[in-house]
Amino acid sequence: MKIFREPKKLQKWAAARRLAGKKVALVPTMGYLHEGHLSLIAAAKKKGADEIVVSVFVNPVQFGPNEDYATYPRDEKADLAKCRAAGATAVFFPTPANMYLDGHSVYVNEETLSAGLCGARRPGHFRGVCTVVAKLFNLAHPTFAVFGQKDYQQAQVIKRMVRDLNFDLEIVVAPIVREPTGLARSSRNTYLSAEEKERALAISRALGEIDAQTFTDAKGRRVTTGAIAKKLEKAGLKVDYVACVDATTLAPRRAIGKGTCVLVAAYDGRTRLIDNRVF
Ligand code: PAF
Repeated sequence: MKIFREPKKLQKWAAARRLAGKKVALVPTMGYLHEGHLSLIAAAKKKGADEIVVSVFVNPVQFGPNEDYATYPRDEKADLAKCRAAGATAVFFPTPANMYLDGHSVYVNEETLSAGLCGARRPGHFRGVCTVVAKLFNLAHPTFAVFGQKDYQQAQVIKRMVRDLNFDLEIVVAPIVREPTGLARSSRNTYLSAEEKERALAISRALGEIDAQTFTDAKGRRVTTGAIAKKLEKAGLKVDYVACVDATTLAPRRAIGKGTCVLVAAYDGRTRLIDNRVF
């Protein structure tokens, strides 16, 4: 497995692999890899990638001033071992200084899909995501890139960026990976105490119990975003938002039904958790 730290070196190698006719997959991550990330590598393998490049970079530009950039968990050694075991063929570990040169002044801004949901709560977040992902696309020359459905809005924003800026690659969205309890896997789950982890289950329960035919809950009541929010608050979570949107355009939809996505963001103590379900 190759290890790249210099953007230029990755770029040269990846360009040569593409020229040699190889299928290059990119799996962008912020590290502290868990089963969710490994499922993205597995998806790249399944799709027949000859080279699987995993980028590990806690991107400072996508964190707000009061967010967890400094404390975001990092473990380079463990990430390397996991990438190797999962079948990655290259890992990219850049530093903030070599990704953002002095005076960096070009950013990528998606203006529609980023406006609501997490974009409204985390100003500048998707600008940071789009900027770093565009850079990674230019460095890794991927034939396709794999993202997780857990960050549903992010996946839609990136698809739109690829469409609107004519990036020549395919975006693959892999399903959410959950802990046996139902909790969506996230590097931020490491922040949770045992009690908080228990409380967090209310999110996957509330989403999971919706009947996909009748859109009713276990008691046969039609589910609304308000009812989900109430359940989460009752469980002791602080709801940031519960939203029902069109699964493609992210436009607000009144009722949970076919073609919609229900998204949840909630604070469990000081940890912000997100989850979603597409119908
Ligand atoms: O989803 C993430 O981990 C990040 O937002 C990404 C796509 C790696 C960009 O930093």
